[in-house]
Amino acid sequence: MADPRRFELFADLATTRFPSARTVFDIAGGMGKLNLALTARGLEVTTFDRRWKHADVRYAQRLFTLDEPCTCDLLVGMHPDGATRVIVEYAARHRRPFAIVPCCSDNGMSYKPWMRHLAELGQQLGLRVTETTLPMAGRARVLVGEVPAEADGSSAPR
Ligand SMILES: C[S@@+](CC[C@H](N)C(=O)[O-])C[C@H]1O[C@@H](n2cnc3c(N)ncnc32)[C@H](O)[C@@H]1O
Repeated sequence: MADPRRFELFADLATTRFPSARTVFDIAGGMGKLNLALTARGLEVTTFDRRWKHADVRYAQRLFTLDEPCTCDLLVGMHPDGATRVIVEYAARHRRPFAIVPCCSDNGMSYKPWMRHLAELGQQLGLRVTETTLPMAGRARVLVGEVPAEADGSSAPR
């Protein structure tokens, strides 16, 4: 059973780490609870998932793919399962930061190698990837991807 505090804790982390973010893609957002927590913190959030039943939030009822037009300045994913790798690849392609709390892999890898693999993937694609942990039960490790300043021509990381 996933920790019910995960959405509030993750929303706090995302807003603290990316205070200038205004528009967020919440990938594999399930019922939209992370969307609610981020919206309550003043962000404009679109959740991508396939659920019919969900909170009354801005909700794109489809799988998130690399073809999605980029209208966000931050990507987040809480336990995004099969969408995890796509988030990293999409963030790198569009030079956007991300914060993800991975759980299951998409290829049978166990948790620790999967975490390592995702971090390496982000770095190979030109992002700076660091790790932190949410103070909660269950899968709580967070990978944070940032666009290095020199990669987007600005003086500060996104
Ligand atoms: C373990 S659930 C987590 C849901 C929610 N984030 C939470 O923490 O309760 C994984 C979710 O990923 C969604 N999902 C998997 N691949 C996806 C994709 N490519 N695009 C959007 N959602 C996806 C599934 O539909 C499912 O709702």
